[in-house]
Amino acid sequence: MYDKNGRVTREGIHLHEPGDFAGMHRAGRVAAQILDDIAPHVFPGQSTGEIDRLINQMVEDHGATSATIGYRGYQHASCISVNHVVCHGIPGPKTLKDGDILNIDVTVIVDGWFGDTSRMYVAGALSRKAERLIQVTHDALMQGIEAVRPGNTFGDIGYAIQTYVEAQRMSVVRDFCGHGLGRVFHSPPNVLHYGRPGREAVLAEGMFFTIEPMVNLGRPETKVLADDWTAVTRDKSLSAQFEHSIGVTAQGAEIFTLSPAGKFHPTYG
Ligand code: MF3
Ligand code: CO
Ligand code: CO
Repeated sequence: MYDKNGRVTREGIHLHEPGDFAGMHRAGRVAAQILDDIAPHVFPGQSTGEIDRLINQMVEDHGATSATIGYRGYQHASCISVNHVVCHGIPGPKTLKDGDILNIDVTVIVDGWFGDTSRMYVAGALSRKAERLIQVTHDALMQGIEAVRPGNTFGDIGYAIQTYVEAQRMSVVRDFCGHGLGRVFHSPPNVLHYGRPGREAVLAEGMFFTIEPMVNLGRPETKVLADDWTAVTRDKSLSAQFEHSIGVTAQGAEIFTLSPAGKFHPTYG
């Protein structure tokens, strides 16, 4: 099947060529390297605005372009979501306190390809309940990636994530999802982090998309603040998120945003 621009698609989802994987690896690696390099700059007393300024500098140092600056009026090189902020937290003058947990989400463009990834960090000492939330969220993402192979469906991915999270008596956010990407930032499909086996589009080799589950310690409902970006849990419970950009191969999934230093896992190497 071809879309209106003559590109190969399956169920409205772009199918990339084998040669396109290399471009995604380059973009994903830059984004992941930045998430590695920002880790020492997260500490109590640090402002999220300063973290974003450093990220912006790193994007420039890599000769990359920020995908988020100018995206729908967004003005920062990262989203920084602290504690009960679910996603799209706006960096600013507010400083981190001991025990705060935060997601840092970076999207870069390298030679026209998009690399989109996020991880959790902690300022100071990590509480037991926050540690458990972060661990479960990370493992939920990896369970979702395990379900990626040609012939499986997007519903299988969502089901793997949802069942894993709910078995730990935590909840999966419904209001935000992963997305196709490649030479564009957000493209079909919507990658839901909940679902039923066999539902939604069938996965095929060459599909590129993100999986980025948001998990709450309390209820799943969210609301967006008056700034039109910041999404928070309605019940003020803690929320965590991890995100990888991946491509579907004949065998399974190739992760484009693996940490070069092996620091993606929340034990922070
Ligand atoms: N990186 C986010 C995602 O995972 C999108 C951020 S859009 C922004 O899709 F404008 F808020 F930066
Ligand atoms: Co994303
Ligand atoms: Co992202």
